[in-house]
Amino acid sequence: MISRQYWRLDARPEGHDYDAALSLVEEPVEAPADGHVLVEAQYLSMDPGVRVWMTAREDGYSPPIPLGTPMQGQFIGRVVQSAHPDFAEGDLVRGFGHWATHSTVDPALAGLAKLDEDVADVRDHFGVLGLNGWTALCGLTHVLELKEGETVLVSAAAGATGSVVCQIARNMGCTVIGIAGSDEKCAWLTEDLGINSAINYKTQDVAAELEKIEGGIDVYFENVGGDLLDAALPNMALYGRIGICGLITGYTSESGNPGPAHFDQILMKRLTVKGIFLPDFMAEGRDYYPPLREMYDQGNLVGEFDETQGIENVLNAFTRLMTGKNTGKVIVALGQD
Ligand SMILES: NC(=O)c1ccc[n+]([C@@H]2O[C@H](COP(=O)([O-])OP(=O)(O)OC[C@H]3O[C@@H](n4cnc5c(N)ncnc54)[C@H](OP(=O)(O)O)[C@@H]3O)[C@@H](O)[C@H]2O)c1
Repeated sequence: MISRQYWRLDARPEGHDYDAALSLVEEPVEAPADGHVLVEAQYLSMDPGVRVWMTAREDGYSPPIPLGTPMQGQFIGRVVQSAHPDFAEGDLVRGFGHWATHSTVDPALAGLAKLDEDVADVRDHFGVLGLNGWTALCGLTHVLELKEGETVLVSAAAGATGSVVCQIARNMGCTVIGIAGSDEKCAWLTEDLGINSAINYKTQDVAAELEKIEGGIDVYFENVGGDLLDAALPNMALYGRIGICGLITGYTSESGNPGPAHFDQILMKRLTVKGIFLPDFMAEGRDYYPPLREMYDQGNLVGEFDETQGIENVLNAFTRLMTGKNTGKVIVALGQD
């Protein structure tokens, strides 16, 4: 019989003390029931949004993960047993399952998708070609209706989602300004990804830097919230658009995020503020893949990884993500081919 290891949520974490709240558990795996598929994971995706599901907050976009149950997240892996007609042993797939070596899933509920293997790096099916890429493209084009030549500001710009936003906006002929948490990340954004400028929010006065933008910011792709949203609001262009994709500054809070001090600028500048939530657009995901793949194949969309090895090190990887140690997509490699 196959056995699996998975991370179980035992308690609501305090801050970033994940060791005290989760434990690695081993259990036998049954053969999948009718309509289900057993997948052996090759890679796990680390995503900040799951930090909100670790809290007891009932007002998030997903309910809290019940204590005593497996942590949820995305995997890329191979089907090892299938009781579903659309999936066969050996298929390379991506879906939502557990922080685990193996996940048994209902394909419809897990969003299980067979993956192209003719990509330069299958790990890109998480980042630039996966849900981060879809979020960036859908957010910029569908939600924010970005136009060529506009001025775009991106927070957490060197992360998985932000770095794709930067590249798509650059490809569309926009002026792109990134905000990130180190000089190394800022150099990667301007020198490697070729965006126009980058601001290190830990060492620079972000509001003062944004004041220098002639004509103001047309589109702000927000991944962080807090002080950065407050720095951006007074520096938006008249009729500017803000897409709230993430508010990572508040994800450890059990009581939610305070609103911005410069809320009045929404009126003064006649701004449009919209939430960007990929699951609302999952059905359109297949439409987002071809344009992303075209940019990728042409070398106009590149992924970067922060990779940790081994199921036992998942909490280290998640802590790296939540404390800004990463450039690009945070993943855990489990060692299977
Ligand atoms: N709405 C959706 O459908 C959707 C889908 C995917 C992602 N998201 C959101 O998009 C954002 C980025 O997600 P991602 O997966 O691409 O992660 P990521 O950007 O690769 O990693 C998170 C980054 O946030 C930055 N950060 C800024 N302030 C922080 C703070 N106070 N605490 C911790 N980190 C902080 C860190 O970089 P620096 O501090 O160095 O800049 C860190 O690298 C998150 O808010 C996530 O929830 C939303």
